[in-house]
Amino acid sequence: MIILKTKNELTSYLSGLNSKFSIGFVPTMGALHKGHLALLLQAKKQCSVVVCSIFVNPTQFDSKEDFNNYPNTLSADITQLEKINCDVLYNPDTSDLYRSEEKAKHFDFNGLENEMEGKYRKGHFDGVATIIEKLFTLIKPQKAFFGQKDLQQLLIVKALTKKLNFPVEIIGVHTVREKNGLAMSSRNKLLNKEQLKRASLLYKSLFFCKENKETKTIAELKKIIHTQFSNYDDITLEYFEFASANSLQTISSFQEKGKNTICIAAFVGGVRLIDNIIF
Ligand code: PAF
Repeated sequence: MIILKTKNELTSYLSGLNSKFSIGFVPTMGALHKGHLALLLQAKKQCSVVVCSIFVNPTQFDSKEDFNNYPNTLSADITQLEKINCDVLYNPDTSDLYRSEEKAKHFDFNGLENEMEGKYRKGHFDGVATIIEKLFTLIKPQKAFFGQKDLQQLLIVKALTKKLNFPVEIIGVHTVREKNGLAMSSRNKLLNKEQLKRASLLYKSLFFCKENKETKTIAELKKIIHTQFSNYDDITLEYFEFASANSLQTISSFQEKGKNTICIAAFVGGVRLIDNIIF
């Protein structure tokens, strides 16, 4: 695997590729886990050259503390990337992608950016869209791979691609879960053993609602879930929203099969986790 630290190195590597090569791109912030590996394996399957980026993007964090605490496991990440034969790792410093004092651009995605994560993490999607625009412009991938765990991010990236006319296909890849249902996330590395067990409540509550959708209303299900979460001292529910899987607009009754989603954000011992289910 080639490890590149700068835009210039990356551009000169990519310009040397034969135009018949298709580039598959997997953007990450590192602390790689099986969810990332699923994205990379899809990219390997579908493209001839796979570029992975590891860059903890400062503009998408609404809290300095969250940014500073983001796990960093670079040497283990490199070992994992080499094991699956990733072709290129782009691992720049902030100064390679941002001018000093540069802030996120402001984007309008017809309100999608203001739902759920947008409500609780102000400016988050401006930061995500800013870095993805920079990376797509630089790498010019034919396909880019994103996890469905970050459903709203996946929809925002699709909207960004359309808005800016990037000739890239955005591929959503299924969430990879621990045995207890907990969605794989870099943030799980910040949880202790007990918290890892208790964090399975997020997926269990999503699954419970999916399983009971025929017999209970959305309002009833919401009430049950909020009561359940209130029984735990170290788990705080931030939101539990029933929405249309395409627009993330809130719904008050279920739509046809495959068009419903429930999205959740909760703090487990101070670590913020998100998950969703589509049904
Ligand atoms: O999902 C992530 O890890 C990040 O939001 C991304 C897509 C790499 C942009 O910084």
